[in-house]
Amino acid sequence: MTAPVTVAIDGPSGSGKSTISRRLAAAEGLAYLDTGAMYRAATWWCRRRGVELTDAAAVAAATEVMPLDMGVDPGDPTITCDGVDITAAIRLSEISSVVSAVATNLDVRAQLRERQRAIIAAERRPGGHSGGRGIVAEGRDITTVVAPDADVRILLTADEAARLARRARELHGTVDDRAIAATRDEVVGRDAQDSTVSTFLTAADGVVTIDSSALDIDQTLAVVRRVVAQARQEEQ
Ligand code: DC
Repeated sequence: MTAPVTVAIDGPSGSGKSTISRRLAAAEGLAYLDTGAMYRAATWWCRRRGVELTDAAAVAAATEVMPLDMGVDPGDPTITCDGVDITAAIRLSEISSVVSAVATNLDVRAQLRERQRAIIAAERRPGGHSGGRGIVAEGRDITTVVAPDADVRILLTADEAARLARRARELHGTVDDRAIAATRDEVVGRDAQDSTVSTFLTAADGVVTIDSSALDIDQTLAVVRRVVAQARQEEQ
């Protein structure tokens, strides 16, 4: 039995980190944690409770009591809040367009960081979803703040054109000029706002950068799996 592993993956929107992280977790038999979904869930919860997102103290107070259950099965990462399955709802543009207001709230970040650390720690023990095999956690500050001691730390990047094309295809089903223009605001604007509180555009010391601009999903996954395999070998 190999030792439990924690894989931390950061990157900007459209870098492919969610798809890669989920597939990596499934392939390696690990749990999967989408930390961005936790910021989205907090946004959903505040809206449900009628909390103004500009009221930082109220948003932090609401997040503190948020009854969030993060599914960590990479085959079915269902997210439940207050008994409601919000997996699809948190992807809607009404959440995407305002989530940065919550993700840049430093009190919220401190709270969610602790919840994220607890989920990661649980997967290193036999009782967790992965049976103690470990977890892939992805986001913007996992390699630097949430789990700087992770066994494997990866920054997944892609140039702006590649990231815009991927998101346009995902959101609009096409990569024509109109779709790219409509996507630009979401991808570039949101990353600019988020980068005021986390550093996810350049790799911290010891973090492996993988540029996926010219790679498809399978090729990127193969590179990531090689990095994980190498780290596990070095550990033994
Ligand atoms: O990756 P995503 O689009 O689901 O992330 C949602 C928001 O949360 C986005 O504004 C980035 C932010 N985020 C963050 O600040 N820190 C994380 N660890 C993960 C996401």
